[in-house]
Amino acid sequence: MQKRSLTRAVLTQDLAQLHKLFDLVDIVSTPVGPNKVKAYYNAITARTYKLLQIFRGPGLHSTLCLPAPILRNAGTSVQPLMVLEKICKSSCKSVLEIGCGQGYCTQLLAVLCPDVVFKGIDVLDQHIEVAKQCSLAKCYENTEFAVCDACTLDAFEGQTFDLIFAVEALCYLDNSQKRNDFITCASKRLNQGGYLVIIDGFRSSAFEETSPEQQMAMRIAERGFQINEMPTKSAWKSHASDLNFHMTQDLDLTAEVLPFCQQAWRVARFILNFTYLIRMAGMCSATAKKASANLLAAATTAHACRNRGAAEYGMLTLQMKN
Ligand SMILES: C[S@@+](CC[C@H](N)C(=O)[O-])C[C@H]1O[C@@H](n2cnc3c(N)ncnc32)[C@H](O)[C@@H]1O
Repeated sequence: MQKRSLTRAVLTQDLAQLHKLFDLVDIVSTPVGPNKVKAYYNAITARTYKLLQIFRGPGLHSTLCLPAPILRNAGTSVQPLMVLEKICKSSCKSVLEIGCGQGYCTQLLAVLCPDVVFKGIDVLDQHIEVAKQCSLAKCYENTEFAVCDACTLDAFEGQTFDLIFAVEALCYLDNSQKRNDFITCASKRLNQGGYLVIIDGFRSSAFEETSPEQQMAMRIAERGFQINEMPTKSAWKSHASDLNFHMTQDLDLTAEVLPFCQQAWRVARFILNFTYLIRMAGMCSATAKKASANLLAAATTAHACRNRGAAEYGMLTLQMKN
């Protein structure tokens, strides 16, 4: 059977199929409420996390393809290994992870850099509990985790860091106020010359020029992820330059994340064939709503990333000026 590829015509077909099942106009025009992110992650059970790990590896972030396949699970290690390079190059001694989830990136780095002190924060207490239990069980003495919002950064009072990083967490700071609050706090918690590393999905800078269908795909994907509007790279750059940061690296990784998004898209397309069952499932339970959100994101993210029209993935490195 011939594999479908990502084209404008296929996107039009996919949107038509989604329209049959969901009120897309209502979905994209209804703002995501303030507690939706917590509710979304809370609804994911430990069993679902275990299942996800089998298919995409540890961590709660996307798999990046490597030039050569190493291990099945290596793809989710690419992001922390990119942070590792920064830690080694700039001889960091203290590192803070924002939105650390269940602690996978911090714990991997803590093993690789036993002389560095690692702290992790996340807004979700269930995630922090898992991270703490895992660190305790594996005796990672150089890690500490706390529940804290990125916009306040009030955990680990009085401590400063050589590097602050986030993997697929700062996309949740979906308005200018939240980003400004975060970056103001981060600038106070970084040592002079310290780094802020953001690895994430972004709204593309070409968003306004792309087709209405691709814009729609991005808006649906954002709602699926419980985000009002993902920040663009230039939004981060402008917030950062207001606060004495300068940009040292802007790396595009869209091509590396696309195979992962395409895999999810193929699975979503297959599921979308079962219109009747999806309608039946949609009528019951909050779990079905969460599954619908995942289905919407999986069905549209790859389309949004095509030619970096509406979405891109990458790494931004910002440094505090001395
Ligand atoms: C996609 S997961 C990534 C988790 C982790 N970085 C990883 O790669 O495994 C996003 C995480 O960001 C957290 N998060 C979302 N908004 C946040 C905020 N305002 N402050 C702190 N954490 C937040 C969520 O609770 C979730 O654990």
